[in-house]
Amino acid sequence: MVVKHLFKSIRIGNMEVPNRFVVPAMVMNYCNEDGTATERFISYHEEKAKGGWGLIITENFAVVPEGKGFVGIPGLWNDDQIPGFAEFTKRIHKYGSKVVAQIYHAGRQTSRQVIGTTPKAPSAIPCPVLQEVPEELTIDEIKDLVEKFGDAAYRAKLAGFDGVEVHGARVRRKFTKQAAVPLRDNSQHPQENRTQLPHHIPHLRR
Ligand SMILES: Cc1cc2nc3c(=O)[nH]c(=O)nc-3n(C[C@H](O)[C@H](O)[C@H](O)COP(=O)(O)O)c2cc1C
Repeated sequence: MVVKHLFKSIRIGNMEVPNRFVVPAMVMNYCNEDGTATERFISYHEEKAKGGWGLIITENFAVVPEGKGFVGIPGLWNDDQIPGFAEFTKRIHKYGSKVVAQIYHAGRQTSRQVIGTTPKAPSAIPCPVLQEVPEELTIDEIKDLVEKFGDAAYRAKLAGFDGVEVHGARVRRKFTKQAAVPLRDNSQHPQENRTQLPHHIPHLRR
């Protein structure tokens, strides 16, 4: 019976999860505008750990301030954000749960109202929902962004997270999806170029 496995531990990489109950990433918007943790953010997740969830995957942590899709989401773009999230992971671990930080960049799925500047994305094609025309990332900006994912993952480690989940949509997926990539990418940039960002992030070492 499948149900009997629900309460069995499982190893994911070098992480031992006490059971098969997993909270997926869900934006709560409970952090401070500077991306630091609040008591509300911590206690919201702590309740889940208390309730026995084996693995909690947080909502998306922005890897740069301009990558925020909402005002109150967490961030891991500077070291001042580490202590609050170290307290967060400590409070989750107290109940035996594992906690993974989802890291991301919103790409075109944000607005000037949220980030105070024009959104940056793989192409200058607006998000069909938000309708704001983003600026196209340059090659150097893309390389820098790959590094920012690595830096954020390292900060997550310093803050005591058990792992990171690299958000596969927004900026990463837009590079590989035909509809959001302009002609220059389809004709002049072969598939291997368009997949550089998703390809390089998992290989970063800190
Ligand atoms: C309010 C809300 C916020 C979400 N935020 C995120 C997020 O930050 N990152 C993510 O990858 N998915 C996010 N999702 C998607 C969920 O993690 C989940 O994959 C989706 O709800 C499908 O699962 P379900 O069919 O069990 O609802 C969100 C979903 C909801 C409803």
